[in-house]
Amino acid sequence: MRFKKQISILAAAVAMCYGCALAADAGGQPWMNARLDPAQRATLAVGAMTLDEKLKLVYGYLGNDMENKKTKRPEEAHIQSAGFIYGVPRLGIPHLRETDAGLGVASQGGPNVRTATALPSGLNTAATWDMKTAYEGGAMIGAEARAYGFNVLLAGGVNLMRDPRNGRNFEYGGEDPLLAGKMVGAQIKGIQSRRVVSTLKHFALNDQETGRTTLNVKIDDQANRMSDLLALQIAYEEGNPGSVMCAYNRINGEYGCENNYLLNEVLKKDWGFKGWVMSDWGAVHSTIPAANAGLDQQSGMPFDLADYFGPPLKEAVLNGWVPQARLDDMVRRILHAMFEHGVVDHPVKPALDGIDFKANAAVSLKDAQEGMVLLKNGANLLPLNPAVKRVAVIGGYADRGVMAGGGSSLVYPAGGNAAPELTPKTWPGPVMIYPSSPLKAIQARLPKAVVAYSDGTDPAAAARLARESDVVLVFATQWTGEGFDMPNLSLPNKQDELIAAVAAANAKTVVVLETGGPVTMPWLPKVSSVLEAWYPGSNGGEAIAGVLFGEANPSGHLPATFPASESQLPRPALDGYPEVADKRFEVNYHEGAAVGYKWFDLKGLKPLFPFGHGLSYTEFAMSGLEAGVKNGVLHASFTVKNTGKLAGKEVAQVYVAPLNTRWEAPRRLAGFQKVDVKPGASVQGAVSVDPRLLAMFDSASRTWKVAKGDYKVILAADAAAAADSKAVSKVVHLEAAVYDVNGKPLK
Ligand code: BGC
Repeated sequence: MRFKKQISILAAAVAMCYGCALAADAGGQPWMNARLDPAQRATLAVGAMTLDEKLKLVYGYLGNDMENKKTKRPEEAHIQSAGFIYGVPRLGIPHLRETDAGLGVASQGGPNVRTATALPSGLNTAATWDMKTAYEGGAMIGAEARAYGFNVLLAGGVNLMRDPRNGRNFEYGGEDPLLAGKMVGAQIKGIQSRRVVSTLKHFALNDQETGRTTLNVKIDDQANRMSDLLALQIAYEEGNPGSVMCAYNRINGEYGCENNYLLNEVLKKDWGFKGWVMSDWGAVHSTIPAANAGLDQQSGMPFDLADYFGPPLKEAVLNGWVPQARLDDMVRRILHAMFEHGVVDHPVKPALDGIDFKANAAVSLKDAQEGMVLLKNGANLLPLNPAVKRVAVIGGYADRGVMAGGGSSLVYPAGGNAAPELTPKTWPGPVMIYPSSPLKAIQARLPKAVVAYSDGTDPAAAARLARESDVVLVFATQWTGEGFDMPNLSLPNKQDELIAAVAAANAKTVVVLETGGPVTMPWLPKVSSVLEAWYPGSNGGEAIAGVLFGEANPSGHLPATFPASESQLPRPALDGYPEVADKRFEVNYHEGAAVGYKWFDLKGLKPLFPFGHGLSYTEFAMSGLEAGVKNGVLHASFTVKNTGKLAGKEVAQVYVAPLNTRWEAPRRLAGFQKVDVKPGASVQGAVSVDPRLLAMFDSASRTWKVAKGDYKVILAADAAAAADSKAVSKVVHLEAAVYDVNGKPLK
């Protein structure tokens, strides 16, 4: 009775603001009134819930059986899915069904995987420098997930590439906070446009896999706010994710999922995050500290050592160790996101017939082609001459398909694994080759030529084939994945030797790389062309062939620096690799915010390929840079001219260098724009610069401070060109200014 009365008082309060009719419409369940705002609805629903119902919502199960722990997924969970949380059906609150979804709808390992469309790797999408492409990929994933009956998507990975050997770099957005934040944010927005919730992850600094569940990352607050946190903050602002997943690792001594500073202070207070924090799978270590530090939901039981947010949380709430108000806040946050993103008003229903796999394949193909990076093109060997007579295709399973990355993000393709014999076959495998064969796609485009294949296991035989051919296409793969890092930046399995042998036999060699991230290329001077195709997704073979033949003009640009060697990195040897005896080890991010190209600039190092680099089959000239300050905001405009003979896209990059003050590095990327230009035509571009990219973060006052002085605004095609004294530039003067923690002018 008391509880009913409470509802009606709340309902009346809300009705006063929005009109009695609206609340009455919802049939005694005023929170179901879609015309109220999410905060009101969440408050009303929390008010109607029992303690046990609240506790259910903060406790997540793994959506899969776990043999070693002898546990079964809840019956209601979708088979081989990442997670499941009981809703409150009596109140119209649906269950939460979670799937990994960074690159497409994933499946947990086992015999009953669901097949779905795989986008290319996140790094490929970042390499498009095109937010529309990222958004469309997200919308595609969101639609497939909805059709499979999922309403929470574990996507939005934006851990900065501090180390090119990190096994999960392929899932993320590269090394620059602006680019990574914008691209991943756009993908989150696309996902949530389908009325499902997306996460943003992994909060924060899970930048290497070695020792990820135990390592302690040391970094000072200022550097953190200007690097990893800035990427997350920009993605958060761009994408408005309903949920944030806290990370496995410790940060300055505290685990990510019980880090009061990061969760309560930074995310919830400073950024104003209204949704819920879910743990990564197995990242919870306590009940009371975690709940009070800002964790709102434990995920994926039985991954953790104990069911911290099960009975122990009830006991803690009943004893006041976790205040009742805190439990209500946890639940309110979950409901807020569910109401805000349409999960309650538009319940998901499995409807597989509704998936347009053909259209979705086209989305994946476009993303792949837009993100492939033409690193080198000697004597313009590419695009391939359609009149070529004898072509050798060598290595990389090119006869069967294209490589995918391993771990929880793995999407299983229609048609199955094209190389099921590869190991490991179980976690973090299977090593997956998507059945989209570059060889077949090439043969289809050359019906009159002889296109011969050698698998590359015998370099001498491959070299013989190369010698007899007019042109050679060598495919090289690097399998990376979750839970492990690369020992170094070399291609594995003696592929460097294979490429060198082939290139020695025929200089007209094109190398197509399918890698998780940067690799070294000892054979680079000996080959004509190199195309970085990343992990190109479930239509990858077609995508690669389309670029090789010039049906699509490459327009991807590197979202990360390709080092010349590991010795150039802030940590020449990866901390803790491959496994430390005392697993509680530390990584000191002494480079601070000088990540990637910023580190290379600071130390005067020459990379193999700089951040931002990418060639085209046409040529561009950038000119007419104008830069000025209006109402305190720095604007730059410029002209991009296509001086070649083919239509193409260029990425204009605007860097800023301070002349009278010091930043963490000499220059920062401050804006970018991808433009599509017809041959002979010019396009005007413009960017306005986020003040945080012109400022230093001041931890004491939690503000961004721009120092008075002159700043060089540079228009360039990559980070190395920006460092050149001959780069197109303008000097602007900025007055001292202070911005709040979110980069908004202080009133
Ligand atoms: C990963 C997360 C993933 C989760 C659920 C964890 O191992 O770190 O990114 O969402 O598993 O599969």
